[in-house]
Formats: sequence, C-alpha cells, structure tokens
Amino acid sequence: MKAVTIRTLQEMKRERRRFCCLTAYDASFARAAASAGIETILVGDSLGMVLQGHASTLPVTIEEMAYHTRCVSRGAAPALVIGDMPFMSYATPEDAMRNAAMLMQAGAHMVKLEGGAWLVDTVQRLSERGVPVCAHLGLTPQSVNSFGGFVVQGRDPVAAQRIADDAKALADAGATLLVLECVPRALATDITTQLTVPVIGIGAGAGTDAQVLVMHDMLGMTPRPPRFVQNFLTGGRDIASAFAAYAAAVRDGSFPQPEHGFD
Ligand code: KIV
Repeated sequence: MKAVTIRTLQEMKRERRRFCCLTAYDASFARAAASAGIETILVGDSLGMVLQGHASTLPVTIEEMAYHTRCVSRGAAPALVIGDMPFMSYATPEDAMRNAAMLMQAGAHMVKLEGGAWLVDTVQRLSERGVPVCAHLGLTPQSVNSFGGFVVQGRDPVAAQRIADDAKALADAGATLLVLECVPRALATDITTQLTVPVIGIGAGAGTDAQVLVMHDMLGMTPRPPRFVQNFLTGGRDIASAFAAYAAAVRDGSFPQPEHGFD
C-alpha cells in the first residue's frame, strides 16, 4: 500500500474526500487502525489520561511521547504518524526544535502543537527545518487550567474571530494540518473553507475535512465519554470492525451527527 503523506491529505481535501485520524499508542493498535484504512494516526498526549490514568495531559513527558511514537511507528505503515508535543515541550522555539527532533527520530512524520499566534515563529522554524507541523486550536487540553475546565471554545464572536485569525496565521507560518477541537460547527466549517490546509475536527461538526477520535473513547472504554464521541464497538464484531466502521462513517459523512457537535 502507498504511504499516506501530507500530499495525499492535501489532494483529498482538494477532491473533497474526507479522511480519518485515530489515536494509537502502541504497534498493535496502530497496525489495526492502518489496516482499517485510517489515513493518519495520532500518538496523542491523551495517553496521559487513557493509558496513565491522570486527570489531564499535563504530566506527560517528551520521553514518554518518544517511547510511544517509536512503538506506533513500527505498526503504522502506510498511515501518516503525528507525534504530539507534550505540555511545556515547545515553550520556546529552541525547546520545540530539540523535542520535535526526538519525536521525528522516533518515527513521527509530523508533530502537533497546541496554541495560537504565539507559535507562529516556532511553526516557521520547524517547517523550515523539515519538521511538518499540525496546529491544534479550540479546546487545547494542555490549557485546561487556563480555560477552567474542558469547555467549548469560540462561542462568542471575539473568541471565534481569534481562533479564525490564529488558524490563518499558523497556516501562513507553514502549518500543514490543523486540528480544531470543541468549537462551534459553523466556525469549524468557515475555517475549513477558508484554509487550503486540511482541517481535522473533534467535537467540531461535520464540516471539516477529517475527524479524529481518541481510540479508547470510540471503543467505549471511557466511563463518561464526551458528547462528541460515538462508540463504534457497539454492535460490531471486534476492534478491527470498529475501526473500519469509524473510517466508513467519517468517509460517508454519517459521523459526526449534529448531536456530536456544538452551536
Ligand atoms: O492527545 C490527543 O489525543 C489529541 C486529540 C484529542 C486531538 O490531541
């Protein structure tokens, strides 16, 4: 099978073909996701919550992310692997370059950073040095303490405009993918239409170019799953079928439904 690259995802956006992203943290689940045709695998710092049992992603270290990225990269082909930069690992451009190198050398094809315009310089420097960047805006979980909880972002016009401006600034700086998490559907759809960069949504409605879910959530393993989650194991035969059902539902637009999103 042909490797999925950023060019594949850009072409899919141009052709209005939706693609999928799923988190994975080890080689076996990465292999199952890739075999189900899931184009991109995110080694998310959500592992701090779903694997390590923390209440947030903040305790996750770059060494732990590198370890899980190495595991995932051994099973993920032909999917594109995105390595998540954990809390404070990109506080300065120098930190970002040193720590992004660890994830790229561990097998990531791209790194993901949470934050807005303050990251423009960092994104530019990483991109110029051969590190593709996925930006992440909206409900960025590493800022949970600043937000005062896991709450929907961009609901008032000023906040919505700031997210739209940040998205453009990061794309102009060289970000080649964007995750939008827990923002109103209409805002996510507008940003997706305005940008040439593919946009992956989670709790952001059906108007984005792609969807991402945390694997443990979509397998029904999270005690109180967020509203944007659908359990794809229910009624299915096994994990492989759940992954295939998720991929099919994203592609044919049957996931997410309006009840998975926010106004
Ligand atoms: O860490 C993660 O899994 C993520 C997704 C929720 C987008 O950032």
